[in-house]
Amino acid sequence: MTRTIAVIEGDDASPEAMRPCVELIDGLGLDISWTYPPVGPTAREQHGSLFPDRAREMIDSADTTYFGSTSGGATQALFYLRWGKQTYANVRPARYFPGARSPLAEPEGIDFVIVRENLEDMYLGIEGDLADLAPLGLVSRTSRRAVADLGEGRYAMKAITREGSERVVRFSFELARKRAASLGRPGKVTCTSKYNMLPESDGYFRDIAREIANEYDDVAFETFIVDDFACRLVTQPHHFDVVVMPNLYGDILSDAAAGLIGGLGLAASGCYGDDYAYFESAHGTAPDIAGQNSINPTATLLSGCMMLDHLGFAAESARIERAIAEIYAEGKTLTPDQGGSASTSAFCDAVRGRL
Ligand code: IPM
Ligand code: MG
Repeated sequence: MTRTIAVIEGDDASPEAMRPCVELIDGLGLDISWTYPPVGPTAREQHGSLFPDRAREMIDSADTTYFGSTSGGATQALFYLRWGKQTYANVRPARYFPGARSPLAEPEGIDFVIVRENLEDMYLGIEGDLADLAPLGLVSRTSRRAVADLGEGRYAMKAITREGSERVVRFSFELARKRAASLGRPGKVTCTSKYNMLPESDGYFRDIAREIANEYDDVAFETFIVDDFACRLVTQPHHFDVVVMPNLYGDILSDAAAGLIGGLGLAASGCYGDDYAYFESAHGTAPDIAGQNSINPTATLLSGCMMLDHLGFAAESARIERAIAEIYAEGKTLTPDQGGSASTSAFCDAVRGRL
């Protein structure tokens, strides 16, 4: 059965990472057909919109989407891939490949996954004028002042729902189970949020995680307040397996986690819903190095491996990961962010040469 992958190359340097990765995956000879939804400035010229209906239809009819990164042109497409397709679990692995440039003295063996709730929390995008909240009579728990007395200012709303929390936590436990089976050791889920200061929202998230944990006797469960977690992430990264957290913390701490294993150039990411999943690197578009053929394509390629897994091509995914590990271990064809001088395409050629 042919699998269809919609490719959205993204903005700035992102297409430079995407193109050789698509080529590499295409070269595996799998039954894959690639489609290119019109997105961004060229789509606007041709179809009058950065994200025309045609693009949405192509995403819908594809089995998955392989997404570059966006600095604006592809943002509407990104929003559609998240909220339109309800991809609620953003999986961001932090696995260290020996040879990658880590700031840690002993990064060997770091292998954990952040599962970031992907659709709610502060990311509902509900912000506004504080004056609009004044009629609600809300009073600050800390300062005891009424919102009406806070003066001129703005607010952002954070919402944590039962459904949104349950599904991402359950996803995390299932992932911990899968990892336990493949790594041959017990699984563990860590839940982190700011439940001391925000008992009604982050505490709710933690409580729901606890409830779900009771359904999984075979998986260990622990919780840390998110600031404490941030310190442990840096000082004891080997301790973690699957870490689930609300959206904003996940956005921030997954970049921090990437820093431990060699930087954003290695930060893969996949966003999963019940009916759709799409794959993107966690990094931005690197506008400063656009046009130089020097962006590190590892994050994009590892996201491609997650995509192949999702499509049922686990063996091919494992082969590419092994080849990437070998290239890092050998250290001769690394991109400038890793202290090397290889180009993006040279890195991909080296990986291909190892397959
Ligand atoms: C990410 C990015 C996005 C986010 C931006 C580009 C909207 O930082 O995927 O981590 O905040 O989720
Ligand atoms: Mg981010």
